[in-house]
Amino acid sequence: MINQVQEHLKTVENFTEQDSEAIEAFRIKYAGKKGVLADLFAAFREVPPEEKKEYGLLLNQLKQAVGDKVKDLQSQTSAQQSTNQVTDPFRPAFPIEIGSRHPLSLVRNRIIDIFSQVGFSISEGPEIEDDWHNFTALNLPEHHPARDMQDTFFIQTNPDILLRTHTSSVQVRYMENNQPPIRTLSPGRVFRNEAISARAHCIFHQIEGLYIDEKVSFADLKQMLLYFTESLFGKSKIRLRPSYFPFTEPSAEVDIYWGLKTETDYRITKGTGWLEIMGCGMVDPNVLSNCGIDPEKFSGYAFGMGIERIAMLLYEIGDIRMFFENDIRFLKQFKGSL
Ligand code: PHE
Repeated sequence: MINQVQEHLKTVENFTEQDSEAIEAFRIKYAGKKGVLADLFAAFREVPPEEKKEYGLLLNQLKQAVGDKVKDLQSQTSAQQSTNQVTDPFRPAFPIEIGSRHPLSLVRNRIIDIFSQVGFSISEGPEIEDDWHNFTALNLPEHHPARDMQDTFFIQTNPDILLRTHTSSVQVRYMENNQPPIRTLSPGRVFRNEAISARAHCIFHQIEGLYIDEKVSFADLKQMLLYFTESLFGKSKIRLRPSYFPFTEPSAEVDIYWGLKTETDYRITKGTGWLEIMGCGMVDPNVLSNCGIDPEKFSGYAFGMGIERIAMLLYEIGDIRMFFENDIRFLKQFKGSL
């Protein structure tokens, strides 16, 4: 055993390679996790008691020699200038940090899961849209005042091309290419020409859903909303407030009863206990016929929500801008979240 260490000492002393790759190979061979030194240290247990002292001394000598040799050779080679030079060959590797999913992805995936359990599939479409798919087909003809509900980014050279203001445009495309029964969910990024504040952003994410079949009624819509709010928030009390969207008739805003237990509850619900989470309604027959579906035979419902808004509620985030700053301290908090 002692001979072995002495042999290695000689080899180390005689090692004179100048090439930085060879030096690195040498370092790994001796000082690596599964290298010669590790083996020799592990073998200490098997050394006969009377040799232990000498073995130990020699081994430390060898370790020192390896360290000195690597340092010497490195300082002689140009590797010294390179940033990855090793100053301490026994230094453990940096720990590799595992990242976490973005909170918006987490919430989107949860919503998709909930709807896919009842048969919805995912459809996606372009972020740069034409007027037809974003507005006209959705019962918003040119000059219709409701176009102002969503401030739009147009492409200057061609007013027919714009950044989609909602993912309803994806549903138009889906209806144009598929006949009922339709159950589809369109998640995606949308754009509105709005000033950025704690509650609004010019880029955000939506998930919209569409269900079309024979004899679909408002009762079906309400049932689905109950299933959804219960699955996502664990809250089963909802309220439908009459509202207006050009593409649905009748239309409603959905509120969930959040409760008034804590101070935060008071603040976020403005003392009412209720929180608005999405818009919905029965698809206007005009929209169906614009998209090649017979409104005499089929009916359907649609709904749409902002992912940021839902994520802010679920994670109690007070400022929408945090989603887009990519501050690692913010993102790290979602490690291990569903
Ligand atoms: N498209 C609407 C919006 O962006 C949301 C919505 C979708 C409302 C479907 C009703 C039905 O605000």
